[in-house]
Amino acid sequence: MSEPFIQCENLVKIFQVAGLEMVALQGLNLTIEKGELVGIIGASGSGKSTLMNILGGLDRPTAGKIRVDGHDLLKMPDGQLNKYRREKVGFVWQQSTRNLVPYLNAIRNVMLPMTLNGVTGKEKERRAEELLDIVGLSLRKHHHLPELSGGEQQRVAIAVALANNPTLLLADEPTGEVDSTTAKAIYRTFQTLSRDLHITTLIVSHDRTIARHVDRVVGIRDGMLASETIRQTAETNGASNGVHGESHDEEDHKYAELVVLDRAGRIHVPHEYLDQFNIKGHAQLEITAEGILIRQAAQTVTEQVQVDGDSGKMRHMGHAGAMTVQREKGKGGFLNRFRRNKDD
Ligand SMILES: Nc1ncnc2c1ncn2[C@@H]1O[C@H](COP(=O)(O)OP(=O)(O)O)[C@@H](O)[C@H]1O
Ligand SMILES: [Mg+2]
Repeated sequence: MSEPFIQCENLVKIFQVAGLEMVALQGLNLTIEKGELVGIIGASGSGKSTLMNILGGLDRPTAGKIRVDGHDLLKMPDGQLNKYRREKVGFVWQQSTRNLVPYLNAIRNVMLPMTLNGVTGKEKERRAEELLDIVGLSLRKHHHLPELSGGEQQRVAIAVALANNPTLLLADEPTGEVDSTTAKAIYRTFQTLSRDLHITTLIVSHDRTIARHVDRVVGIRDGMLASETIRQTAETNGASNGVHGESHDEEDHKYAELVVLDRAGRIHVPHEYLDQFNIKGHAQLEITAEGILIRQAAQTVTEQVQVDGDSGKMRHMGHAGAMTVQREKGKGGFLNRFRRNKDD
């Protein structure tokens, strides 16, 4: 079997900030096949941009394994990594100002990376026209950026990213600053590229509905691959119990967000679920007929009941149901500490 186009294993990225270590990726595993159109979702700060920068050769991982199209991005010398970035990768960023030169018109923006790569003459113009045609902007090629809408500017940016024939297209929140209708038009452009040019494309988004527009969506939490959203068929629909409650309908399709199980059997349980059941530090796994239940570990709790010095009456400070009693002399009498097993 041939090697996947992208393979990340146990990828770690640590930033040093003012003498402190900031772990942006902590053992991320991800495999993407050639030609796939993949959405990446995750909360702000979960490590999405860090991953994109590493995949694009803009930054190096701290540890782990990362191969893209046969290149080892961890071990590659700097010169080769620069060449990889220039020749193999196209970037589309959230802000169009980062993608485009404001005083050049659309076609000149698309020709610029070719000029920088030594392409000259008529071929450069022909290719730029072809790319603007692919992104649906042939009628706008002589427009300057202020004359183009936000969505059109992002489509010019996509044409710019394609100028040097990349094999990998990385888009970091390309729809972050546009409305949902414009976002759909941008997603459609990526779909066309994926279908017609078979470019492997990764799109970072905040928007879960991206599942409708891509082949597959992976979710990142705390610098790890945590979930994968799949389009359910009639067959898998019935078995949606493994879904952590995030099943949703989008037009005719049903989507389910599944947690990812890594090779070592680890899963990343969403913090909000752990908080809901007050699971911290340890948990009990229980085998049930339905599957594996994660529940709060049985624990001993300390509860306090104050005993009035004169009357000997107890005033509850927590609840009673004591198993063991410790007596301490307190200000207003004896402070008794009761310990009981939570399961009692
Ligand atoms: N250059 C950097 N220096 C220090 N910390 C960084 C740097 N880039 C990202 N981080 C930190 O790494 C974590 C992941 O960031 P990022 O990949 O930008 O997340 P996302 O794109 O998902 O919002 C964040 O906590 C962020 O503050
Ligand atoms: Mg980001």
